[in-house]
Amino acid sequence: MRIDAHWSRTFDVPNLTRVGMQSSAISDRLRAPQRDTAPAKGNAHAAIESAWWQRAIIYQIYPRSFQDSNDDGIGDLPGIERRLPYLKELGVNAIWLSPIFPSPQRDFGYDISNYTDIDPIFGTLRDFDRLLTAAHKQGLKLLLDLVPNHTSDQHSWFRASRSSRSDPKRDWYIWHDPAPDGGPPNNWLSQFGGSAWEFDAVTGQYYYHAFLREQPDLNWRNPSVRRAIHDVMRFWLARGVDGFRVDVIWQLLKDQQFRNNPVNPHWTPGQPPSDQLIPLYTADLPEVHDVIAELRRVINEFDERVLIGEIYLPIERLVAYYGRDLTGVHLPFNFALLSARWNARALAALVDEYEAALPAGGWPNWVLSNHDRPRVAARVGTRQARLAAMLLLTLRGTPTIYYGDEIGLSEAALTPDQIRDPLEHNIPGLGIGRDGARTPMHWDGSTNAGFSDREPWLPLAPDHRAENVANQLHDETSILNLYRRLIAARRAMPVLSVGSYRPVAAQGDLLLFLREHAGDRVLVALNLGDEAATVEFASDQFRGQILVSALGDRDEEPVRGRVDLRASEGLVIVLARDATAP
Ligand code: GLC
Repeated sequence: MRIDAHWSRTFDVPNLTRVGMQSSAISDRLRAPQRDTAPAKGNAHAAIESAWWQRAIIYQIYPRSFQDSNDDGIGDLPGIERRLPYLKELGVNAIWLSPIFPSPQRDFGYDISNYTDIDPIFGTLRDFDRLLTAAHKQGLKLLLDLVPNHTSDQHSWFRASRSSRSDPKRDWYIWHDPAPDGGPPNNWLSQFGGSAWEFDAVTGQYYYHAFLREQPDLNWRNPSVRRAIHDVMRFWLARGVDGFRVDVIWQLLKDQQFRNNPVNPHWTPGQPPSDQLIPLYTADLPEVHDVIAELRRVINEFDERVLIGEIYLPIERLVAYYGRDLTGVHLPFNFALLSARWNARALAALVDEYEAALPAGGWPNWVLSNHDRPRVAARVGTRQARLAAMLLLTLRGTPTIYYGDEIGLSEAALTPDQIRDPLEHNIPGLGIGRDGARTPMHWDGSTNAGFSDREPWLPLAPDHRAENVANQLHDETSILNLYRRLIAARRAMPVLSVGSYRPVAAQGDLLLFLREHAGDRVLVALNLGDEAATVEFASDQFRGQILVSALGDRDEEPVRGRVDLRASEGLVIVLARDATAP
């Protein structure tokens, strides 16, 4: 491929030789990623201007599957504490734990029966405090999962609420009389199958549950509910947690008139049954932003905390969650990559659309996998998973890494008796089950990959003897070492964390973009195809040095006039200051 127009513009850049030196100094650093890679002094300005969560790399831990310490086959808090040095060396700055609170575990912790304690399968409050202190000592922030939309049906609030129509907590949940024929009040559907209404024979009314019937939705129109959850937040913030990822934040409010959701004319069998309706009256209601602004005010009572929202909406709706004058969540999770078509044009268009939609001052973010969707290696294949890592860690915006993606964890195929996910149990056969993305971390080649001495609650992915942390650490070209180099680069170079983003080209299988900051420029070149490709620049004044190569064998190679990319290869190239650039 020849790139002319874009590349023929010359930038007025002063210093001729300095960057060559600077980039090799950076490469030295990257070979020892365990060393502190805080921004260099000369760039302190950028570091001071941005909040920690703008520069941070977030790492999501699914606690059941990270590290078991008491041999019950389920991961726990002391297990996570044991693995903090691993996370420190990986270089991430913040960890987010999926729910660890007391729960009947019907939806694996997203059904909470007590918001201010720890489930015994994960440990105790003391274990939590120890983990938090240890994490902070290592320079790691700790984020918790706040699940305010619903509780477990075993929560004392719901037990009280369902006990009688006159109980003071009755209105804490969403109760409604039956329809005239005795059926559910309206057509609202549960995302976990069937009607979203469950009849309660004792009090003769239905209650609403967007997910399992064991997960009744709280009534966020009731100020007491709002206050109660605010106090839950304060409980953890005062203990020292650095913020929350808020579960299904865009669904907190439902229509007060309980109008039927419209039928979705585009639904076809094979899609989740709840998609038969458009959730017009059960999600993304305009008033939800007031409720979120209140959550944000609670966060603002404490210094330097962050609020992240789980929001599955098209980009133009998603960005509304920054809130009017940025009074909403700091980071509305951007899940666009989870369902992106994996080709250069589609990816470039998606980044452009997102960048263009961001409100002034709104900070971007990117998510590659999570506990609800197939892993990136399963979506794009193991070779392309490296490029996905490169993309995630070089785009503008806070990246979130899902545990195990850094070793290219694949999805385990489960036999029917191994299925644990209630979603798959309720709606089998559509491929929406989530167990495959939640299997235990592979630490080493020992029994159960070093995760537990007992049979894990979910099976290990089949390749665990070969693909594990211990093996990959020793292989310079492993995906784990690629992650480490990319993370170290992002942490060392403000141009990668806070620099601007500029699209360069999306042609055929090639995706190229530029990051720029204070005279530093980094070109990211990804070959998403199975054939080698060459990018020729109009001028051989295009010069630089490879900082990170996706296949792990070209770091520090000089680049001049052209870039040769092998199949599925990606390069992060630091441009010389005097180079002709796009
Ligand atoms: C969120 C969680 C998911 C859970 C659901 C209901 O989407 O990420 O795991 O099942 O909420 O709580």
